[in-house]
Amino acid sequence: MKTLAHDLPQTKVEKAYGYWAWIYDGLCGPIFRPAHLAITAAANRIGGQALEVGVGTGLLLPLYRRDMSVTGLDISEQMLARARARLGHGHLPQVVALETGDIHTIGHPDQSYDVIALPFVLTLLSAPERALDNCRRMLRPGGEVIIVSHFQSEAAWIASAERWIAPRIASLGLRPDFPVERVRAWADRYGDLEMLPPEPVGALRIYTLLRIRKHASSGSIPEASLSKDEASPAPAAV
Ligand SMILES: C[S@@+](CC[C@H](N)C(=O)[O-])C[C@H]1O[C@@H](n2cnc3c(N)ncnc32)[C@H](O)[C@@H]1O
Repeated sequence: MKTLAHDLPQTKVEKAYGYWAWIYDGLCGPIFRPAHLAITAAANRIGGQALEVGVGTGLLLPLYRRDMSVTGLDISEQMLARARARLGHGHLPQVVALETGDIHTIGHPDQSYDVIALPFVLTLLSAPERALDNCRRMLRPGGEVIIVSHFQSEAAWIASAERWIAPRIASLGLRPDFPVERVRAWADRYGDLEMLPPEPVGALRIYTLLRIRKHASSGSIPEASLSKDEASPAPAAV
């Protein structure tokens, strides 16, 4: 799989999270809590069928509405083992499946989800745009791809420190220098997508929530990219 300059190789990320699994909840649970609450609140406003990409140890699973149907996906068996144990301990009727798989290639049917949530995973992917293309394919018209992560700072000196440290912590499966603009550029390629204004999350505002909505009238827009320039003023019928 081709990676851009600083995109993380998949094998490195999978290996890193094999180790992270043992300490993840205690270390990352409290730090990520505001972001987890923000992304699940956004998902719960939509409801229906949801795919959580990079479900990890399942920290977010209890936060989804109980009338939703949530499928969790992850490449790390060790992280998923923790999520499965969580299912065994709690009553979580909203969780319908936990699957081992890679968001770049997972072949769930077209338009099968109302919400696709990516909490703290997009910036770790080896081909983020390709993964997002797959999310767009699986998203129903009117649905949203919702992302929360730490993105590259807008302050030049912090951004430069993040660029410096990024290659030094890549083997830990961490990536602090991913620009929000890259997500916007991806969404702008498609006439059926609209990226809503980014929302800073938490008291320190170090995380950002991104929502990309697929127009309700985009049902029959083909998989091949349809640029905004090419888009017809009269949308295709659902
Ligand atoms: C930082 S953890 C986030 C876990 C969880 N979403 C949370 O916020 O607590 C990133 C997770 O993404 C998973 N991951 C990385 N690349 C992936 C891929 N290509 N497809 C699916 N999951 C992936 C990792 O194995 C890891 O469990």
